Amino acid sequence: MQTLETDRLVLRPWEPEDAGFAFDLYSRWEVQRFIGNPPRVMTERAEAEERIGAWRQLDDPVHAVWAVQLKDSGQLAGNLLLKSIPASGRSLPLQPSGDTEIGWHFHPDHWGHGYASEAGTAVLRYAFASGLRRVVAVTAPANAASRKVCGRIGMRHLGQTTQYYNALCELFEATAPQPPLLD
Ligand SMILES: CC(C)(COP(=O)(O)OP(=O)(O)OC[C@H]1O[C@@H](n2cnc3c(N)ncnc32)[C@H](O)[C@@H]1OP(=O)(O)O)[C@@H](O)C(=O)NCCC(=O)NCCS
Repeated sequence: MQTLETDRLVLRPWEPEDAGFAFDLYSRWEVQRFIGNPPRVMTERAEAEERIGAWRQLDDPVHAVWAVQLKDSGQLAGNLLLKSIPASGRSLPLQPSGDTEIGWHFHPDHWGHGYASEAGTAVLRYAFASGLRRVVAVTAPANAASRKVCGRIGMRHLGQTTQYYNALCELFEATAPQPPLLD
């Protein structure tokens, strides 16, 4: 997978040594409360190790999950995901919808600095440079912070939908820039 760089951040593959950070991140209710259906916090470090293992094995030419690291301190700040989004449905596990979603999960110590928006902008640019035509984001209706990230990175609000995750979500989309018309 490709490492991405912005002014303040490096987006790089998750490493097994990052499990302590991932566990700290996902064991917090303030991080997890709007994620998952129903949301639940991690209770064991082994879950973080497993999750990192799965992210590292993601075998896709474009989809990826990046650990977001601050350039100045080297600290990990969060997680940026570009992945297949499951369609709503009756059978479990839910089946892929065919759409790609972008998502962001940051540690509360690093909220309020524009890091999620900076990383999200870089991942959208990467997605379109890699040939995707459309990327969606879904947020719980009450997740104002995440809705704001979608707006800051230029995603269009399409209203509410139940088409993914068997949940009512706010739906946002970004589409690939049009190539210039040739004469
Ligand atoms: C959603 C989430 C990533 C948003 O984080 P965030 O830090 O608020 O988002 P941004 O990176 O866009 O930062 C914007 C904030 O930083 C401030 N900021 C400071 N410096 C900035 C800069 N250089 N550039 C942009 N914003 C800056 C902005 O004013 C804004 O604060 P405000 O919302 O109080 O006005 C975070 O709340 C989170 O991880 N939540 C838990 C997981 C979650 O719910 N994920 C989404 C699931 S759909």
